[in-house]
Amino acid sequence: MRPSLPGPASPHVNGARLEAILRPIEGDLARVSARLEACLRDPIAANAVYLVAAGGKRLRPALVLLAGRSGDYRGRRSALIDVAAAVELIHTATLIHDDIIDEAPTRRSQPTFHARFGTERAVLMGDYLYSLAFSMLAELGDAHLMAYTAEVCRRMSQGEFQEVAGRFRLNTSEAEYLEVIRNKTASLVAASCYLGARVAGAKLDTCERLARFGLSFGMAFQIVDDCLDLVGDESTVGKPLRSDLDKGSLSLPVIYLAHSLPSRQRVALFAPLRRRAANRAFRARVAGEAVRLGAIAQAFEAAGRFLDEAGGAVAERDGVKLTTTYRQLVDYALERVR
Ligand code: IPE
Ligand code: IPE
Ligand code: MG
Ligand code: MG
Repeated sequence: MRPSLPGPASPHVNGARLEAILRPIEGDLARVSARLEACLRDPIAANAVYLVAAGGKRLRPALVLLAGRSGDYRGRRSALIDVAAAVELIHTATLIHDDIIDEAPTRRSQPTFHARFGTERAVLMGDYLYSLAFSMLAELGDAHLMAYTAEVCRRMSQGEFQEVAGRFRLNTSEAEYLEVIRNKTASLVAASCYLGARVAGAKLDTCERLARFGLSFGMAFQIVDDCLDLVGDESTVGKPLRSDLDKGSLSLPVIYLAHSLPSRQRVALFAPLRRRAANRAFRARVAGEAVRLGAIAQAFEAAGRFLDEAGGAVAERDGVKLTTTYRQLVDYALERVR
């Protein structure tokens, strides 16, 4: 039997805190779920329901819908739902491909798509979902929207590529890391805001300002996610932890840690990484040192700076309700680690 897609009130979709923040748009989020279900009805897409039904936080569709409130969201509701669903399909495609690249065993608290259905089907399903998303967007007849989204997908692939190309390089700089996450993660989060505002007919400067919110928010979101990879709790995060290190991806706290150590100690601590022999003890040692030497705290501070930027991009003229929701999201991004 096909699993059915949960509504936004389901605990599989949003954590309790996020669910409370997104309550003002829960009706539209339920419409996005219904739209996803409808567009995945084709038998070929049946396997995708496996991952989509597991929920996820639905953060990107939520950002589309929220940004839509800065324009005529009632008049453009159906287009907004389509864009929100398309963005979630793109996100889902990137997760399927990312989990192959990262050899990740679990996603959304269940086996990853490729672990469940095999890598061949996973590659194809990622392509299928990308294409489906673009078909849905094409229906809206807005060439700029198509071009903008295509460019974002290009950037996400570029970011993933840059990350893979830079693996196992202990001297990875903060700037290189930030460039990777700007491309692979923040670009789609920014696009979610931009596209929502555009579809609802908001002015260009509003679209761009909300995109700036999304870009900074997305940067902070990924930095926090990378901190969680080191010090989080696997049962609440829903995916395997310390996996970045196994694959040789240096996240921000690890970069800070590496840069804070004198060369000899750095070489000694990270020797298993050079030998491609990261094991549980090595991961625990790096996580422990990152906490002890303040690298985790330093990464949170960096996330905090991006969140300050995000907060600064939303303006009173967005309206009290919307501004409050954006600010709550900013708080939520850091609360995820508490
Ligand atoms: C996972 O994104 C990939 C990152 C950018 C860290 P989310 O954390 O939004 O994943 P879901 O959709 O909630 O599963
Ligand atoms: C996020 O990358 C995936 C994309 C943005 C494409 P990561 O590999 O860092 O995220 P998780 O930990 O698998 O969710
Ligand atoms: Mg991954
Ligand atoms: Mg990855």
